[in-house]
Amino acid sequence: MGSSSTDHDRPRRPKRLVVLVSGGGSNLQAIIDACAGEQLPAEVVAVVSNQADVFALQRADAAGVPAVHVGVHPGEERSDYDARLADVVAGFDPDLVVLAGWMRLLTMSFLGWFPHRVVNLHPALPGDLPGTRAIERAWDEAIAGTRTGTGVMVHLVPDEGVDDGPVLGTATVDIDTTAGFDAFAELVHATEHRLLVDTLTDLCTDTPDRTEVSA
Ligand code: GRF
Repeated sequence: MGSSSTDHDRPRRPKRLVVLVSGGGSNLQAIIDACAGEQLPAEVVAVVSNQADVFALQRADAAGVPAVHVGVHPGEERSDYDARLADVVAGFDPDLVVLAGWMRLLTMSFLGWFPHRVVNLHPALPGDLPGTRAIERAWDEAIAGTRTGTGVMVHLVPDEGVDDGPVLGTATVDIDTTAGFDAFAELVHATEHRLLVDTLTDLCTDTPDRTEVSA
């Protein structure tokens, strides 16, 4: 008489993360460290960059994670690039696609492949400072006296909206203009690293295997 195993008995396999990067990869490093430290029940199965020779790809190599550069071909349509990118990413069978320091807008030619499974980190609060240079813009407004704080958020990317998908987590950051921009930027990035890891931990812990994440 064997005992029948049920879903909740079966040990959960680590969630498969593909992380998209464009630059230094400090957020990628936070994810890699959290997986290694066993806080985050996931594994980074690939790092994909639209830029060659960025430190994020070196971080992946150092961690023994497949590092792939998918460059834009001269004159390539955005949707054609996105379809190529999706094909590469899908090949790693991700449970979640994490945009961590990824600096390109994605069309449905990419997003459509991964419904409810693309997560973005943005260094601003919901509805505030969408787009690039959010950290610098928040600082400039604080210097001008029109704001005293900002924050960071992690959200789902269901469509082509810029930094405006269903919010999964936020954290506020006060702006101390007496401490200088570098100290402020460092505080924002430290807040990003913590929020991203905590949000991914919730996602990877709550969702049963092979289901889709919904906000
Ligand atoms: C971060 O502020 C990220 O939110 C933005 O680019 C910055 C650098 O990210 N998109 P990383 O160090 O490359 O992870």
